[in-house]
Amino acid sequence: MLNKMMKTSLVVMAAVFATMSTADESQPIQLAQLSEGFDAQTKYMASCFACHSTGAAGAPKVGAGNAAAWDARLEKGLDAVVANAINGLNTMPAKGLCFDCTDADLRAIVEYMIESSK
Ligand code: HEC
Repeated sequence: MLNKMMKTSLVVMAAVFATMSTADESQPIQLAQLSEGFDAQTKYMASCFACHSTGAAGAPKVGAGNAAAWDARLEKGLDAVVANAINGLNTMPAKGLCFDCTDADLRAIVEYMIESSK
């Protein structure tokens, strides 16, 4: 009984410690890393698909056969294209409405969109 209680409190302490230590470092780490459990395709389907599958409002279409649309956009460089996804561009909303996406997540989604349009 006592043993079980001690185990439980150790687990709780470990969890609290883990939260505390990631809180300190999460900012710089988040900028360079993908979110935990991140999957580009899943995020694309959730946040970007609505506009980018149909080309709504002039969004570059995603899917096989749309390479030309992306080539034209990539003339300014991948970094600039990713920056537009992060900051928004005309009717393209900032972060593509994925507010829990980090910059690295958004870059991975953009790369996924380009890859799947070849
Ligand atoms: C509400 C509709 C909408 C949603 C949602 C949306 N987009 Fe877009 N997106 C657009 C439109 C419209 C454009 C074209 C903007 C222009 O060139 O004027 C665009 C353009 C882009 C471009 C090209 C930028 C460039 O430099 O040419 C990228 C990359 C992009 N979107 C990524 C994303 C990602 C990633 C998501 C999801 C996280 C997303 N979009 C969600 C409408 C949307």
